Amino acid sequence: MPRPCGIDFGTSNSSVGVARGGRATLLPLQDGASSVPTALFFSFEDDTTTFGREAMDRYRMGEGGRLLRSIKTLLGTSLFEEMTQVRSRRYHFSEIVSSFLAFLRTTGEACESAPLEDVVLGRPVFFVDDDETADRTAQQQLEAAAHAAGFRSISFQLEPIAAALDYEQTVAKEEIALVADIGGGTSDFSLVRVGPLLKGKADRRGDILGANGVRVGGTDFDRQLSTATLMPFLGRNSRLKTKGLETPAWYYSDLGTWHRINSLYERKVVTEIRGLLRDSAEPEKIERLLSVLDLRKGHELLGRVEQAKIALSGETETRIDLADVVAGLQLPVARTELETAISAGLQRIEARVAALLVDAGLAASDVGTVFITGGSSGIPAVRTAITRGVPEARVIAGDAFGSVATGLALDAARRYGGT
Ligand SMILES: Nc1ncnc2c1ncn2[C@@H]1O[C@H](COP(=O)(O)OP(=O)(O)OP(=O)(O)O)[C@@H](O)[C@H]1O
Ligand SMILES: [Mg+2]
Repeated sequence: MPRPCGIDFGTSNSSVGVARGGRATLLPLQDGASSVPTALFFSFEDDTTTFGREAMDRYRMGEGGRLLRSIKTLLGTSLFEEMTQVRSRRYHFSEIVSSFLAFLRTTGEACESAPLEDVVLGRPVFFVDDDETADRTAQQQLEAAAHAAGFRSISFQLEPIAAALDYEQTVAKEEIALVADIGGGTSDFSLVRVGPLLKGKADRRGDILGANGVRVGGTDFDRQLSTATLMPFLGRNSRLKTKGLETPAWYYSDLGTWHRINSLYERKVVTEIRGLLRDSAEPEKIERLLSVLDLRKGHELLGRVEQAKIALSGETETRIDLADVVAGLQLPVARTELETAISAGLQRIEARVAALLVDAGLAASDVGTVFITGGSSGIPAVRTAITRGVPEARVIAGDAFGSVATGLALDAARRYGGT
């Protein structure tokens, strides 16, 4: 019997949930883990494509090949229409997204010993900020990719509504919840009336009091932290001798953006940077940048910055090991530096929560609970930004990497009929 499922196709991580007997279960996709990296690895050694944890493992072991991450970010952008070269083959990005969704489907089917044909896919409130056409295109591209991946019936649910359905499983009395899902690519919010007697209702539209979102997420925080701490060692803001110019800023923003790093390895770009050496007032920094590009270390360095960011959720100070870039350097990074680097994103999060309340015509005191989920909700300053506008509400942290897929599975059972 085919089983309805919910798929949280995340910028950083993905999960698949199914609902059985009214309860949602997340499928243990790889090594028992239900949340797997949204990553593909094209091996140049054995010519295979691997996904999720296996992709990250092969990449980390230093196998020759090409790693792709953050593919969700391309939906709705002009880049999605482009091809990417992997060795002798050119791939369309739609093919890449559908192969990842097919991996989730077939792996989920093996876990569940049942076909997964009917799916509710999560989507952010806005794939693309302030551009309705691009946003609609993004959903259509994702839907087409899901069809190509073998799904038969495909519907969509907003990620923060799905998270609200997960939270509702535990509520004892009716209340209004503010749900905040702060992920790798987007921050999404909803205001939902939840309650033990409401969750069985077939039509919940009247209980959704508002939804809002903004394209701010953990991958931005990685780039911003990298720009502030690591990039100055590689020549960011370093002066050129002539014309009073600085090294071009885009090298550094691309080096801090997962899906742009590869473009810096192109011969044309490397030649251009090499050309700056003579004109640079600090050529040793440009040499370091060239050596990072030469050794193809871009993803690895950004991964170290991400780890430092995550460590700063639990500690007020950490270190980034840069000994291989600058002899002996263990770069200290303080939580306050992270907070400064991501402050614009924090302000946008706070403003979106405030706008959500205003649009819904609600006062802060109407909100009983703030339910937070998504990996980036681990950052204390992010939590503060979410809750500042609703200081009296209690704060409950959900399963950071599972709430959305759990809610999508519950929604799938309701839409397609679950057992
Ligand atoms: N403890 C932590 N503190 C801060 N950030 C964290 C922590 N754990 C994970 N992250 C970050 O959370 C992000 C991933 O979160 P999550 O898996 O919820 O995103 P996603 O669902 O893939 O993305 P999106 O929903 O935006 O498409 C990454 O940027 C990761 O670095
Ligand atoms: Mg998410």
